[in-house]
Amino acid sequence: MAQLPLDDSVDIPDDPAGSSSGSDRDVALLKELAAHMLGERDHMLGFPVNLDFDYRPLADFLQVHGNNVGSPAKNSEYGLHSRVFEQAVVSFFGRLAGLEDAFGYVTSGGTESNLYGCYLGRERFPEAVLYASQATHYSLRKIARLLRMDFVAVQVGDDGSMDLAGLRRHHSAHRGRPAVVVATIGTTTGGAEDDLVGIREALADEGTDEVHIHSDAAFGGLIAALSPEPRPWAFESGADTVALSGHKMLGAPLPCGVALARPEHVTAIHRPDVAVGSDDDTITGSRDAFTPLLLWYELRRLGRTGLARRVTHCLETAAYAEQRLREEGHHPERAPGSNTVLFDAPAPELCTRWNLLTVGDRAHLIAMPHVTGEHIDRLCADLRT
Ligand SMILES: Cc1ncc(COP(=O)(O)O)c(C=O)c1O
Repeated sequence: MAQLPLDDSVDIPDDPAGSSSGSDRDVALLKELAAHMLGERDHMLGFPVNLDFDYRPLADFLQVHGNNVGSPAKNSEYGLHSRVFEQAVVSFFGRLAGLEDAFGYVTSGGTESNLYGCYLGRERFPEAVLYASQATHYSLRKIARLLRMDFVAVQVGDDGSMDLAGLRRHHSAHRGRPAVVVATIGTTTGGAEDDLVGIREALADEGTDEVHIHSDAAFGGLIAALSPEPRPWAFESGADTVALSGHKMLGAPLPCGVALARPEHVTAIHRPDVAVGSDDDTITGSRDAFTPLLLWYELRRLGRTGLARRVTHCLETAAYAEQRLREEGHHPERAPGSNTVLFDAPAPELCTRWNLLTVGDRAHLIAMPHVTGEHIDRLCADLRT
């Protein structure tokens, strides 16, 4: 990404009155940065973030401190909060994930949602091994270290999803130990989806029923749920906990996510009345009251049907990109139903210009809601020159 030329110093003076800084100048500098970031919407093709939203009607909340400290299900003594909106957001995603009474809360992102799911699994089965595919998000290895769990990376098949025979082999090497298994729904590297039902069956065949399955659906959950041909991704297919992202398919100005769980799994970590008059059953103490409002606002605007239209738009744009990149001789490939297209990486300057991440000699194009056919045409014109 092109960097903003910062002529002015951004160092913070001890005494603003005695320095050359001034709030008008600082606001102008920040506006310049904002204009630069907004302009990048025209070239943002490689990251799984949506840049198509406008939350400015919620600007009043930038003048007050809201805090959802404690449980999402029980008010605290701090009166300025947005729990009822958070509960509406959780209820929407719980229904989408196939569980009417899912417990859940708004998190700081996919990583916290994954931590929460694995934490509940570890509390259910303290001796469990944590299994995830080799293509799992890097957060899972860190989470294994945080929770002091043994971590096993299971090999992936040709389609990039977890190899179930491999899972069985690894599990039999840890015979007698329960399993927390992370099923990735939409790998960051290519959009592959693990087989939730197959994972439980594979472990049952090995004689294990002490299994907690966490669905890391941060990237692909909404795509799997709302595609013209929906695919298994959550509670309906046996997940115990689910991680979703808020800034990916939905879109937000800051990283955020949602953690969902079967309510009976939360009992083990629930501590009554210890969090500013509320119960404690999340990871952090103070909790963001602003993000639930953003997510609620956008979900009310779009509804399930609007989100489904958005997913269809992304898939159509990805199919168009695949076709155009093939015409340009860049050997594209795309997992079925995915919005990620891998192709021969162009020159580094073009990767920078189009915000394309590369792995080896391949680049990732991710068709998020703000990406249109016009972006693809401009990219292809650049590739030709
Ligand atoms: C599959 C998957 N899981 C987890 C995460 C982590 O999400 P966050 O960056 O919001 O912590 C990502 C982010 O790209 C992801 O793609």
